[in-house]
Amino acid sequence: RITPVILSGGNGSRLWPLSRRALPKQLLPLLGGETMIQQTLTRLHGLPELAPAVLVCNQEHRFLVAEQAGATPIDIGAIFLEPAARNTAPAIAVAALHLVASGSGSDGVMLVLPADHAIADVAAFHAAVAAATQAAEAGWLVTFGITPDSPQTGFGYIRGGEALTEGSGRHVAAFVEKPDARRAAEFLADGNYYWNSGMFAFRPEVFLAELEHYRPDILAGARLALEGVAPDLGFYRLDAGAFAACPAESIDYAVMEKTHKAVVIPCDIGWSDIGSWQALWAHTPHDASGNALVGDALALASHRCYARSGSRLVALLGVDDLIVVETADAVLVAHRDRAEEVKQLVDELARQG
Ligand code: GDD
Ligand code: MG
Repeated sequence: RITPVILSGGNGSRLWPLSRRALPKQLLPLLGGETMIQQTLTRLHGLPELAPAVLVCNQEHRFLVAEQAGATPIDIGAIFLEPAARNTAPAIAVAALHLVASGSGSDGVMLVLPADHAIADVAAFHAAVAAATQAAEAGWLVTFGITPDSPQTGFGYIRGGEALTEGSGRHVAAFVEKPDARRAAEFLADGNYYWNSGMFAFRPEVFLAELEHYRPDILAGARLALEGVAPDLGFYRLDAGAFAACPAESIDYAVMEKTHKAVVIPCDIGWSDIGSWQALWAHTPHDASGNALVGDALALASHRCYARSGSRLVALLGVDDLIVVETADAVLVAHRDRAEEVKQLVDELARQG
């Protein structure tokens, strides 16, 4: 059995002004009619032996998450509510502890999926999940490796090792989370590195044993936060004090960089983490001049722009490589090359109050 565990905790601040704390990118329809979390669930449809999905999200988003998830063809099981964001290791630990306690542990595999990624080739994704499940059942912590095309510093890098005896994967020779620019360029040039996609497959007990070994403090914090928690209208509300006391750390730093049990399934699935407007431009259909126009938007004598209208018409004339995003209370105009720096803009706005 495969239990999808959907992580829906990020803010997507580089997609300001559309993505906000109250309505972050995973809950927005950025690429088509469904929201990102709905696409994440819907693309699981057709996988064999799928158990109801477990969702982990911020408590503020509970009704939106439940409503959006309920509108997909995938069965939803427990929804865990975080009183505060503690990054991915505690969120995954909570889901793993729940699966073990509810008895779906020992023979099952959890498939951890970020709620905000795009995957263009669903058939290839399903084939990768099948390979990952086989390796996870054999006791490995499975990552999904993406062939890198640029020296991104915001990703984990996986060095492929020897071929795995169970199925099509490779052992992970090294896992380096978010290297600096120099090392990222080296890894790209080396040719034997993959990007970590941020999706994982493992048996819950195997993950919990590794977490116990490397970060017992995180495991203890997650256990305490779950103690005595009973479902309330289908929601499991984690204990606020205990969860706040749990160290905030990602699974990548807490476990994946350290474990000797990691394997990688190399895959070519049309993956993107849709981190910025630049990525969204790349994944949106273009007109003949390379413009991606969403909503009521028009471009004349303009090239390679991303224009998105919320309620008002957006018209571009004679401009190139611009991002223009119109919303009810804010308009962003930025150069496409500066898409990563939108986060700084958001930080600056927060400073100015
Ligand atoms: N429930 C919950 N709680 N989810 C969270 C939390 C949290 O506190 N923090 C992050 N998430 C969710 C995000 O919404 C996202 O879907 C996923 O977990 C990964 O978190 P990010 O914050 O986006 O991680 P990252 O992009 O810096 O790095 C990860 O993803 C990269 C690929 O996109 C790492 O796994 C990298 O190694 C990887 O390359
Ligand atoms: Mg991310």
